[in-house]
Amino acid sequence: MEFKRHILITGGAGFIGSHVVRLFVNKYPEYHIINLDRLTYAGNLANLKDIENQPNYTFVKADICDYEKMQEIMQQYRVDGIIHLAAESHVDRSIKDPFTFARTNVMGTLSLLQAAKVYWESLPEKYEGKRFYHISTDEVYGALKMTHPEGIQPPFTTTASSETHHLAYGEEFFLETTKYNPHSPYSASKASSDHFVRAFHDTYGMPTIVTNCSNNYGPYQFPEKLIPLFINNIRHRKPLPVYGKGENVRDWLYVEDHARAIDIIFHHGKIAETYNIGGFNEWKNIDIIKVVIKTVDRLLGRKEGEDMDLITYVTDRPGHDMRYAIDSTKLQRELGWEPSLQFEEGIEKTVRWYLDNQEWMDNVTSGDYQKYYENMYKNR
Ligand code: NAD
Ligand code: DAU
Repeated sequence: MEFKRHILITGGAGFIGSHVVRLFVNKYPEYHIINLDRLTYAGNLANLKDIENQPNYTFVKADICDYEKMQEIMQQYRVDGIIHLAAESHVDRSIKDPFTFARTNVMGTLSLLQAAKVYWESLPEKYEGKRFYHISTDEVYGALKMTHPEGIQPPFTTTASSETHHLAYGEEFFLETTKYNPHSPYSASKASSDHFVRAFHDTYGMPTIVTNCSNNYGPYQFPEKLIPLFINNIRHRKPLPVYGKGENVRDWLYVEDHARAIDIIFHHGKIAETYNIGGFNEWKNIDIIKVVIKTVDRLLGRKEGEDMDLITYVTDRPGHDMRYAIDSTKLQRELGWEPSLQFEEGIEKTVRWYLDNQEWMDNVTSGDYQKYYENMYKNR
């Protein structure tokens, strides 16, 4: 079959990448989707079981840092679009091992950019009809001040926040124009990769787009991240390690809403632009943890809230950013995207998914991951 487009998605076996691959494979049978992933601890092909035999899907196990391999793949599959998600993504790991983050996030992105440049510039039509879309994070902007610890009515309306919880914890929000100010090795490496992507547009004319998204939640997230880690711990009645006072604020978006935004931006976003993605859905960690405990208890037939005593305050994360809050007005106004789910609905779906997919959870929490987990929390 002659495909209309050949799209390389990197990091497609990870959390967000698997949702993006699924969306593209199902929605665009006329596109060839090439999922390139190194399958690190965070990459899991079980995340894509339902689409692995589709005729428009190909999986390639490769490391984005392998520049020659990236050149080979560009040519072999005649890639005309790239959605780049492959990365080391966990802040706590970056604090313990910053080199791996610089290698994958900075050098890996550069290797992919250069391979795309060399291949696309070798074609008669050059950059015409091509696109390099880099997925980044709101963490590059640093931390916002918590000027209203009790919360205030935000100046925005959204479908993502519930009627009962619709608060902002300060007047400031991250805009596309906010100056970069990363604090963790993870966010520093993502900031550096964003700069390289923009430099390839400005220097070589490569058609690039960058988006910066807030915290995602939903099925298939590796259980080192707050929500799946805590769901699993509550189920097994293990302590819930809350960093510091649990007062830090994150802005949560259901992963399928991020994948939908990526689809819209890949097709309709303006070259060289940046778009912020977020649902105006700020929560203090401790409040979200209480919602998760109540939801797990209810769905497991326990007394709602009976596992609150699992909450265990532990040493804070070094350099822990206080508050993230994305202003996604530009994306909503220019491209018509908006989050589809009320937060309570999203959390309910998410908890239900993890409880129904215990086998997936057991599989990823065994082996090496278990060793990491023991090491990570042994002094806490
Ligand atoms: P993840 O850790 O779940 O998945 C990352 C994937 O990249 C894994 O499948 C892994 O095997 C693969 N990978 C890692 N190193 C690689 C390499 N050298 N070569 C090829 N593949 C490699 O991450 P995620 O949470 O799905 O995040 C995906 C992207 O979105 C990242 O770039 C991250 O910075 C960004 N992001 C994440 C969030 C979030 O809340 N999770 C929010 C905003 C932006
Ligand atoms: O904002 C986008 C970012 O969101 C992404 O770029 C990252 O890839 C993603 O991992 C996420 O980063 P966070 O550090 O915000 O996510 P994490 O799930 O690790 O932590 C969420 C909050 O919960 C944070 O304030 C730290 C806290 N936390 C986390 C863990 C794992 C705890 O209190 N205890 C924990 O055990």
